Amino acid sequence: MAINSLLTAATLLASQASAVLMHNALAVTPQMGWDNWNAFGCDVSEDLLLGTARRMVELGMRDAGYYYVVLDDCWSNGRTANGTLQPDTTKFPNGMKHVADQIHALGLGFGMYSDAGKYTCGQYAGSLGYEQVDADTFAGWGVDYLKYDNCFNEGQSGNKNISYARYERMSTALNNTGRQMIYGMCNWGQDEPYDWAFMLANSWRATGDIYDQFDRPDPRCPCEEKEGTNCALTGYHCSVMNIINKVVWFINRSQQGGWNDLDMLEVGNGGMTDSEYKIHMTMWAALRSPLIMGTDIRSLSPESYSIYMNPAILALSQDPTGNTAQRIWRYYVPSVNQYGRGEIQLWKGNLAYGDYVVVFLNAANEDMYMNATLSDIFVDEGGAESAQANSNWDMYDLWANRMPNATANAILSANSTMAATGMNGTEYSYNATAQSYADGIAKNETVLMGKNVGTWQAGGGSTWSVLVPRHGVMAYRLRPSGAPTTGMRRRRRDEL
Ligand code: GAL
Repeated sequence: MAINSLLTAATLLASQASAVLMHNALAVTPQMGWDNWNAFGCDVSEDLLLGTARRMVELGMRDAGYYYVVLDDCWSNGRTANGTLQPDTTKFPNGMKHVADQIHALGLGFGMYSDAGKYTCGQYAGSLGYEQVDADTFAGWGVDYLKYDNCFNEGQSGNKNISYARYERMSTALNNTGRQMIYGMCNWGQDEPYDWAFMLANSWRATGDIYDQFDRPDPRCPCEEKEGTNCALTGYHCSVMNIINKVVWFINRSQQGGWNDLDMLEVGNGGMTDSEYKIHMTMWAALRSPLIMGTDIRSLSPESYSIYMNPAILALSQDPTGNTAQRIWRYYVPSVNQYGRGEIQLWKGNLAYGDYVVVFLNAANEDMYMNATLSDIFVDEGGAESAQANSNWDMYDLWANRMPNATANAILSANSTMAATGMNGTEYSYNATAQSYADGIAKNETVLMGKNVGTWQAGGGSTWSVLVPRHGVMAYRLRPSGAPTTGMRRRRRDEL
């Protein structure tokens, strides 16, 4: 009896402990997948979703970890007489369960979209007041992921409590269904979701909508320089640099099961250079944003394909810790572009097994030599005195082993599952359905490391200097190379 109650108490404690850290058991690492919005807007259909899902499998993208196929706004045709949401049968002639079944048969998860308001942003029926009815409908269709927007919320925002209460209703409704569904809040950073949304959801949008521009300012995305402060008008048309600079102060509120969402990837949509897309992909991975591809997978260029598939970058995103990279410094530089923009930034993050990631980001208008010392990198660990600064580090360039265009082209033009079979296991991609990223990293799989380009020698003043292209990035995994020569290994300073 006593033992039984002890066990019950222990189980209760354990479940409470995990409930505190994660509201469900999903998105232990940031979710990966595809969503139609960035490339197709409201032009949605069964053909688009299933054609994309098939291609994701053929191209090995599912195996790289891109699991969810998410249908965004504009899919519905209001409610039936008994109040349940119904699909537009022109776009989805066989209904949503059929789409879900087909996607599941391909070994993928199915996501849908609704809104914590009277209408969706596209002015279709919203779920406010219908939370349980709609959650049950989604569960019945076999949905695995709900993206939940913020338009037409009838004034139920403006402080944390009001937003919390509104988003909590769908969280509870989803949990009540008993079906495991990722809950991706999309309230654009309004009312500081990084303070509270981890209790309800697996991710929360941290800013206004992204657009396919590197650093172009736009008045529709206000609060450009209001780093870290709440922006009442979150807006849209937010560039990659705008988003990076806004999230810098709260990005480390992300944790396993609850991530700041920097919005969907634009790689492949044509508004940025290849080098700018590499920054976008690198930072979204290092900052542990969900990685949701936002382009037409059926007509991918080899360059876009090799960016989305880079295993050394995906290994950052899927690192088994909940850590995000942190910015160490930001300098404005004289070399500005037509928008008057020019800056360089240094980022560093803690990874599993004692590894670190270091990112040199050049958003200036020319190629720049960038330098960092080990004391810069390990300032939180104790700077020059730290064991880390007194260690040698093997340096792995995370882009040097990017899949060559010829290989990507061969895969893209093979037009059959042979492509994926031939590709998996090569030096340019990773099959995470065969072995998780966590296990691959633990086993030092070279494909996840990148290319070894030398050693950063021990010593606080020891400097790594690298030429970073205009609007470009150099990103490294640092792996301990032998024991520290001196110093104390300190815990990471808690930033929260
Ligand atoms: C926005 C949302 C976008 C997209 C769009 C659909 O509010 O941030 O990602 O879902 O609505 O109308």
